[in-house]
Amino acid sequence: MVQKLKGTRDILPKESEVWQYIESKAKEIFENYGYKEIRVPVIENLELFQRGVGEATDVVQKEMYCFEDRGGRKVALRPEGTAGVVRAYIENGLSSEPSPLKLWYHMPMYRYENVQKGRQREFNQLGAELFGTESYMADVETIEMVEQLFQSLNIKDIELNINSIGCTECRKKYIEALKEYIRPNLESYCETCKTRFEKNPMRILDCKEEKCKELNKNAPKILDYLCEECKMHFENVKNMLDKLEIEYKIDPNIVRGLDYYTKTVFEFVSKLDGLTVLGGGRYDGLVEELGGAKTPAIGFASGMERLIDVFKNNNPDLKLEKNMHIFVAYIGEEANIYATKLVKNLRQQGIYAEKDIMGRSIKAQFKYADKKKANYVITIGDNEIETKTATIKNLQTGEEKQISIGDGPLTTIDFA
Ligand code: HAM
Repeated sequence: MVQKLKGTRDILPKESEVWQYIESKAKEIFENYGYKEIRVPVIENLELFQRGVGEATDVVQKEMYCFEDRGGRKVALRPEGTAGVVRAYIENGLSSEPSPLKLWYHMPMYRYENVQKGRQREFNQLGAELFGTESYMADVETIEMVEQLFQSLNIKDIELNINSIGCTECRKKYIEALKEYIRPNLESYCETCKTRFEKNPMRILDCKEEKCKELNKNAPKILDYLCEECKMHFENVKNMLDKLEIEYKIDPNIVRGLDYYTKTVFEFVSKLDGLTVLGGGRYDGLVEELGGAKTPAIGFASGMERLIDVFKNNNPDLKLEKNMHIFVAYIGEEANIYATKLVKNLRQQGIYAEKDIMGRSIKAQFKYADKKKANYVITIGDNEIETKTATIKNLQTGEEKQISIGDGPLTTIDFA
């Protein structure tokens, strides 16, 4: 048998109910904040991610699914959503829409990662991007919207960590200071950190190796190197979050793994397993970097699989399955025709109804209705057709009553 690829998952019907539930909550909340859905291609020019996500990032260097198509073009499966959304924003002239422009998405992403808990090769991101304002208020509104999403999903085991990584100017000074701090001990760092030293030294702060964490303990903090404007921006964000009573921790080690970030960056981390459920931040230079006009922007994305894990842990008793409302059983060929018309009629009124389509015995039909946890069963035989009345049984209580099954459509009131 041909099996699924490592790092991919099948989402079976029971699971997809949870997916749909979360997506519907997210859609409702995002729309209340003025977001509209965008869908962009899975496959893009490789260059988009090299320029957008950054040549020196792990995502581009080690994790991308890239290949030459039959026409000799270098293409890649998207490893994240922001670069594609920004490309679509520029290419479709969305900057002419009223600002701020707010877009959300739910799309599969591909990264060739070491597969482990919370880390797959195909995963889905629920994300949002906001274009057109430099104001700290956009940062706060974005974080507030995420808070609302977690609240609406009754997710409590989660904490918000924020940081500012400044603008290119403050970062230049900071990187010099950081390298100066690391250089004398560089040999003691892990191999990955050593390779990051020249290309992407800030990512050394993100290393999970104990020895590197220890070495990083007294490293200079980016927050001490922010220029006046970036400092002010971050102060405003924090003050407004305080006013909104949104709890957060400042984590100077959040640097994020993608190159486009500026100023505010944030992560929502699961208290249960320490996994980052959602990450995002401001990226004021990316639209210009990808060929658009200078346009500040901010956004985030949550790994759906990780979000579902915390959602399930926080809602162990939630039942989402929709029971069959009515099962129509029949005895005999004429009753089969009658029952077929009856379920068609019920379905046209938006009622979840089923009948046997396997030619089962009446006993087997009842068994099926029971297994599918139907709320009601109506049984049709010759007698019922003649009298135009039938017995409806509530399978939960065992209660029975007579209803008319004449020509008019049945309604839910008939079963109440
Ligand atoms: P990211 O931090 O690379 O940011 O990914 C966002 C989230 O996607 C992570 O916090 C995690 O929940 C999930 N995720 C990432 N990689 C995997 C994986 N291999 N398996 C399962 N889940 C994963 C971005 O992608 C940015 N585009 C977010 C953003 C949007 N920033 C601004 N706008």
